[in-house]
Amino acid sequence: MRSPRKISTVIEPFRIKSVEPIRMTSPAEREEMIRAAGFNVFLLDARAVLLDFLTDSGTGAMSAAQWAGIMRGDESYAGSDSYYRFRDAVRDITGLEHVIPTHQGRAAERILFTTICQPGDVVPNNAHFDTTRANIEFVGATALDLSCAEAADLSAPGPFKGNIDLEALEGVLADETINVPLAMITVTNNSGGGQPVSMANIRSASEICRRHGIPFYLDACRFAENAYFIQLREAGYEDTTLIDIAREMFSYADGATMSAKKDGMANIGGFLASNDEALAARERDLLILTEGFPTYGGLAGRDLEAIAIGLYEALEQDYQKYRISSTAYLGNHIAEAGVPIVQPPGGHAIYIDAAAMCPHIPPLEFPGVSLTVELYREAGIRAVEIGSVMFGATDPETGERVPARNELVRLAIPRRVYTQSHIDYAVEAIINVYEMRESMSGYEITYEPPFLRHFTAQFAPLADGSGGG
Ligand code: F0G
Repeated sequence: MRSPRKISTVIEPFRIKSVEPIRMTSPAEREEMIRAAGFNVFLLDARAVLLDFLTDSGTGAMSAAQWAGIMRGDESYAGSDSYYRFRDAVRDITGLEHVIPTHQGRAAERILFTTICQPGDVVPNNAHFDTTRANIEFVGATALDLSCAEAADLSAPGPFKGNIDLEALEGVLADETINVPLAMITVTNNSGGGQPVSMANIRSASEICRRHGIPFYLDACRFAENAYFIQLREAGYEDTTLIDIAREMFSYADGATMSAKKDGMANIGGFLASNDEALAARERDLLILTEGFPTYGGLAGRDLEAIAIGLYEALEQDYQKYRISSTAYLGNHIAEAGVPIVQPPGGHAIYIDAAAMCPHIPPLEFPGVSLTVELYREAGIRAVEIGSVMFGATDPETGERVPARNELVRLAIPRRVYTQSHIDYAVEAIINVYEMRESMSGYEITYEPPFLRHFTAQFAPLADGSGGG
């Protein structure tokens, strides 16, 4: 039989059955929109956006199988078939016994931390996502980031820059003055550039925790993308299926929180899972108070069906190959043109280093805001600032603003939504903006709420007419 010759183009492993129009806007319309939004892209109407890279959370396209599952959703208040299908899927992949559905990831976080954290406790993680941090701080505990040393150099490549610093973890757990109710690893590391965590790192972190008698949890939002990176980059896993890699990752964990809006391939949902029966009973009590009965937890039966199917679809080899290649394609093409990005390209997103791109805009004039505004003006692209607006602080004593460690702009790619020509368009647009970077200028804040200000803050350009327009 003739053996096929190799074809290197990676294609979308799906065809399109249903389409949703996206609308081109004129530069004049975009100028009007961005001004009306106070130069904050969160305040733009989605219909004024052409390519929406604000988040990969809940923005994916569901499969025909998921839509079919939705039709058989059992909407019984208690004990619905959909719950059992959901629970069995989560158990099959994670090996965790007690599965509590929640309406999204942060609800799982709130229930977990409210149940097991006390004021003064410390919760280590490779890097906490902002809702995780906020939910820990809300109960009076401290969220401690222990990123590995390689993560600090944004432009240096490395296979597993999402790893936790094992020595630092050991140090915190060995310190008898610190009470640690649980330790976590976030896969992939969203706050650290979407970088993966190696199996060896997960295994060692779990061993350290077991030795100290501390529960070890995974924030599993992007567990399937992490599994693919392990298969691609970690010796010994080349021939292991993604589902078996995922099962091994979870085998080291005592519990997990999950936003099914990411690798659950669903538009809403999440879960909290563990092997601790007594803890799960307390968590369910809290669940009933705010989310709902334990067999639906704030979701409709149809949502549970979509997740039960989506968790397996995220582990399909062809899908992950396309997913990770597509993100890398965007990152590599803009990097080749000189755009400074967090290297290597992450799983769900590309992070542009706005401080390196615009060294003439100081951190407290928000180069990330300037870049998100120019991407919108140039091409109707919506990205998100992850810099001093999102993570900057105000010194409580002096009242002075303190910048964040990095000034990044994240382009998060929704799952199964955009095709390669959309990505090619984004590449061109980003390079155009890069080429006019010297004409970009900074912004000042004209309105800010007391917390989570990035969602609703308003800005004004320091030099009006800056950049495009
Ligand atoms: N953990 C991580 C690592 C996340 O990235 C997110 C959400 C959550 C927890 C919370 O989950 O949104 O379902 O409540 N990340 C989204 C993002 C919002 O854009 O990165 P949620």
